[in-house]
Amino acid sequence: MAVDSRELLVDKIRKGFVVESIDDMTEEYLHALKQTLIITGDTELVSVPALLTVYKEAPSLNRKITTLAIMQDELGHAHIAYILLQQLGVDTVELLYNRPAHRWKNPYAFDFKLNNFVELGAFNALYDRAGYTLLSDVGQNTSYGPWRRALVKVDKEELFHLRNGESILREAMKDPKKRKEVEKAFRWMFIMALEFFGVSDELKSRTTQLDLKLKGKTNDELRQDWLSKVVPFCESIGIDVPAHYDEETGKFVLDFPFPCKFDVERQEWLMDQPDTWDNVIKRFKARGPENEAFIHRIQKGFHEYERLRRSS
Ligand SMILES: [Fe+2]
Ligand SMILES: [Fe+2]
Repeated sequence: MAVDSRELLVDKIRKGFVVESIDDMTEEYLHALKQTLIITGDTELVSVPALLTVYKEAPSLNRKITTLAIMQDELGHAHIAYILLQQLGVDTVELLYNRPAHRWKNPYAFDFKLNNFVELGAFNALYDRAGYTLLSDVGQNTSYGPWRRALVKVDKEELFHLRNGESILREAMKDPKKRKEVEKAFRWMFIMALEFFGVSDELKSRTTQLDLKLKGKTNDELRQDWLSKVVPFCESIGIDVPAHYDEETGKFVLDFPFPCKFDVERQEWLMDQPDTWDNVIKRFKARGPENEAFIHRIQKGFHEYERLRRSS
């Protein structure tokens, strides 16, 4: 472990120092990096059981193969994050296969089944766009060299995922029945994606992640980046979203109180009922309806194999 103090490391990083190994890190840096990589790995991995819920409903062989390729990419992305964690001394077998479901760090949005294949399009267009926005920022700004290099490949693949989602949605909008499905999907998934970026800057403007340059932009800056791509896309294909561009401030503005309350049972946002970030975090920690089933699916094979191995 390094002898640098926090101030010394922050200063070196500000001047362009690239962290390459544990020897370059302070305890704080190592801890923050591990936390960030766990969130990233879990997000990549748990996207797969969510996508699998409608994989078989793909309307053509082409769409099915593309979905399969995307799931393979996500497994690869998760692998990168967990390998980096392993190199940092984390017991990844324990992390992946013995961690209780409620302690996984994937976004709340991934604790839900998809209702139809159009929602897979929305998943790619909204959530992969969020992943792309977050990881592009990391790829351009992170002070951790091994991660920055690995993200070159991830970045290109995420772009393919979100383009796939846009293609599914564009096609669906031409069919009146599917158009209704798109509208329904966006009513719950649009705000889910906005929550990906976390607590508003007013509550958390500077973080350890920013000081140590694990990321480059604040939560609200990233949320703006996402809106600046998603809102024009939605307008271009005729999907109504509760957000618009404000000429005066040059920013995208939400047309409802954010965050707001969510009815889990009905999978519905209560857009006339503002909520606090404290409550949102409580909802995240309570986990969504498929959390246990999805994590069980990830862990099941390992435990079956272990049982077989012990009994032979
Ligand atoms: Fe990914
Ligand atoms: Fe993706």
